[in-house]
Amino acid sequence: MRSVIAAGVLGVSVLLSGCDGMPGGEPDISALAEQWNTSDKQWSDADLLRLDRGQKFYKRTCAACHMGTGEGQVSVGAPALKDNAFVSHEVDPLIELVLEGKGTMPGFSHSVTGMELADILTYISNAWGNNSGMTFSMEQVDRLR
Ligand code: HEC
Repeated sequence: MRSVIAAGVLGVSVLLSGCDGMPGGEPDISALAEQWNTSDKQWSDADLLRLDRGQKFYKRTCAACHMGTGEGQVSVGAPALKDNAFVSHEVDPLIELVLEGKGTMPGFSHSVTGMELADILTYISNAWGNNSGMTFSMEQVDRLR
């Protein structure tokens, strides 16, 4: 009788740990691949996870001004990052701008880690149709800090 109960408990915990893609759970790689892969670009699993992390960090750190849609906000003078050649073509100037800030935009060199900024920049240079195919690394960001 006791072993039946134990098996039941084990079954439930296996079911729970299998809930990929649930809120708070591990990201679902195949859903990310569907979201990000294009005919020109097939992302590695590691890069899909960066894009996913970048989206979360972006929402927390940048979206208040630039909006979740990347369309920017005239009232705070934050330009659109969507369809933005600076965001999809520049590497070092983009990293420097986000580290140092510009005008009323604060710099993030002291409040965000190199890895988080690399993930954010990877995200914004590919989100909303920017599709640069570029990735940014923590080393690239920290080199300019
Ligand atoms: C408090 C509001 C605010 C926040 C938060 C903010 N920005 Fe900005 N951002 C601005 C403003 C305002 C400008 C325009 C600066 C200027 O040109 O004077 C700007 C400009 C930019 C530009 C330059 C766009 C261009 O075409 O010149 C980029 C890229 C950018 N922000 C990215 C980010 C990223 C990435 C984050 C989060 C890490 C972020 N911003 C957070 C307000 C903000």
